Amino acid sequence: MQDIHAQLSKDLAAATTDRGLEEIRIRYLGRKGRITLLRKNADFSVMSPDEKKHFGRQFNELKNFAEQQIRAAITRQQSRPRPKAVIDMTLPGLNNSIGHLHPISLVQMELEEIFQSMGFMILSGYHVETDYYNFESLNIPSDHPARDMQDTYWLKNGLLLRTHTSANQVRALEHYGAPIRAIFPGRCFRNEAVDPSHENTFYQLEGLMIDKEISVAHLIAVMRTLLTAVFHREVTVRLRPGYFPFVEPGFELDIQCLICGGKGCSTCKKSGWIELLPCGLVHPKVLEFGKLDPNEFSGFAFGLGLTRLAMMKYNIPDIRLLNSGDLRFYEQFPASV
Ligand code: FA5
Repeated sequence: MQDIHAQLSKDLAAATTDRGLEEIRIRYLGRKGRITLLRKNADFSVMSPDEKKHFGRQFNELKNFAEQQIRAAITRQQSRPRPKAVIDMTLPGLNNSIGHLHPISLVQMELEEIFQSMGFMILSGYHVETDYYNFESLNIPSDHPARDMQDTYWLKNGLLLRTHTSANQVRALEHYGAPIRAIFPGRCFRNEAVDPSHENTFYQLEGLMIDKEISVAHLIAVMRTLLTAVFHREVTVRLRPGYFPFVEPGFELDIQCLICGGKGCSTCKKSGWIELLPCGLVHPKVLEFGKLDPNEFSGFAFGLGLTRLAMMKYNIPDIRLLNSGDLRFYEQFPASV
């Protein structure tokens, strides 16, 4: 008992932390502590009544001493001044990485806002489509050569991956009727040979406006509003006749290449122009497929190349970067708009 007494005093004098004191308490007074075991292991059967009394007195004194000394040491430790937490304001902050928006998403969100401000609703449609909505209802019957211009991924069950967002036109007319103002942004698929300006998976943004007495003037006004809002500057555009079975008349709206300023580069295939926006007045047959009377309603449609627009806006010279998955590319774009 004297050994324990002396050792406890030494241990308490050496302890400098809360944790150290707690360890001492357990070492001496815990369930398997040295003092606790003294009593547990004592063989009272070999002790005389006097010896038992003596042992009991000594034991209680030691236990009381230990409890009182440990309590006092804890009180001393708690009242000791503690070092204040030091904050180094010059250390770099924690970096909360929240990712980046894809350039196509950025452009799509911006366009959606512009069109919403002109009263257009936003619809999305299906990636897997039927022959009817992708071709037939757009006045492209199965023997029509226009089908060859859109090299199609056919699925085994006769459905297809939509080759253009125009597949939404008749779907929307069936569902909403006229008048209608809607855009359909989304992914399209063509079995293309991939090069700096062609991908097999790319985005378009279709627009459709149908009402009474809609003319080419409405189409041009909306296109002009759109391009000025997107590029925040004057862009040089040209309108040339274009053929699509689902519009009459049809146009191709090109913008001067913003990568090379019209001089000619690999993105514009040395022509100085980027084909961006085919458009036209909705063909009467398409209106009929949409259960509308062409004598009562007219309208325009356009199929903006969203991927190419993103390339022009952000000076991206090669379309393949967009689907590359290369973080060094994506990290150049903001995380929010
Ligand atoms: C069409 O897809 C028509 N549906 C557009 C349309 C809609 C015309 C409404 C009239 C009325 P086109 O095949 O030209 O048209 O494609 C439209 C745009 O999509 C192109 O101008 C181009 O910007 C983009 N595009 C087409 N193919 C690819 C491709 N492989 N990679 C990237 N962009 C493409």
